[in-house]
Amino acid sequence: MTRIIVDTDAGVDDALAIIYAAHSPELLLEMITTVSGNVPVEEVTQNALLLKRLLSLDLDVKSGASLPLKRQLVTAPEVHGGDGLGGYRIGNNIHFKDWRTDDAAEKIVESARRLGRKLKIVSIGPMTNLAYAVANDGDAMRKIGGIVQMGGVFHGYGNTTTFTEFNMYVDPDAADFVLKSGVKLDFVPLDLTEKIFMPRNILTSLLNSTRKMSGELKTLVTQSLSYYMAYHRHTDGLDGCFLHDPIAVAAVVNPAWFKFVDAFVSVETSGILTSGMTLADLRTGKGRSNSRIATGIDARLFLDDFARKLFGRTISARVMKKDCMRDRFGPEFSNALQ
Ligand code: RIB
Ligand code: CA
Repeated sequence: MTRIIVDTDAGVDDALAIIYAAHSPELLLEMITTVSGNVPVEEVTQNALLLKRLLSLDLDVKSGASLPLKRQLVTAPEVHGGDGLGGYRIGNNIHFKDWRTDDAAEKIVESARRLGRKLKIVSIGPMTNLAYAVANDGDAMRKIGGIVQMGGVFHGYGNTTTFTEFNMYVDPDAADFVLKSGVKLDFVPLDLTEKIFMPRNILTSLLNSTRKMSGELKTLVTQSLSYYMAYHRHTDGLDGCFLHDPIAVAAVVNPAWFKFVDAFVSVETSGILTSGMTLADLRTGKGRSNSRIATGIDARLFLDDFARKLFGRTISARVMKKDCMRDRFGPEFSNALQ
């Protein structure tokens, strides 16, 4: 069992990732820390507190950075809704009063000192909290089992600007700082996560037939996904959604499902058109690598695990291959789906 902290900017796919992690016996969810990204950290923290209640999680939710290290905050309400859950929480007038602004980075460092290599951090938002934690105690952070970061795009187009992925775009300075710190870091990039797609008809079938997910959690998932899928339909003409953050969790659930390559990754921090762009040098002789990049995934094993844990259902291999796998980035990543 791997002990994890999820650092999140919840967000709809973040919520799915947290539900997936909570239902994964391979993981022990130690704490959820929150950071501004998809929505401001106050909204993210409310969402984390709601998920804590609905999932009966016995853990702390600690709020973190409200702003990136240097930049203005850019959020994505058009993707996730103003409350980060497609309007579900605000629409139901859910608000937790008994929380206060905290120091997530300090709490991350405390966990790092206590757990060392037993701890992994699944970072599914901008890396701001992680940068503060490394600045606070780099030695402790270099001793943890590693960070799995959903983020970056290396061989294709971005989802925020032409060549940038959202988490890197929001706080490139934080990503740059962590990359230069020597902390063990695995990227689960857009190149990989956009090769798996969850069509609306399959999600609807899973939600309609599940006996595992019920009540308020099912309503939250249904409503927030409806908003999230509407965005994908409007912008990409795709009738469904991507599962960026759940795939990052899967990299800890079962790393054997993934193919990783060593790389020397750099993040652009000052370009007008390219700020947040991630560049990978795969010539890693002489120990030059500073991270790994997930370039392949056994999509069938992930999707089967995800569907079983969230909905208690499976997706047939035929449907998976026909509807859930996309070779958007061409041959350099396609071997991953064999
Ligand atoms: O680019 C996708 C990532 O940015 C996901 O983590 C999504 O939730 C947003 O944070
Ligand atoms: Ca996220």
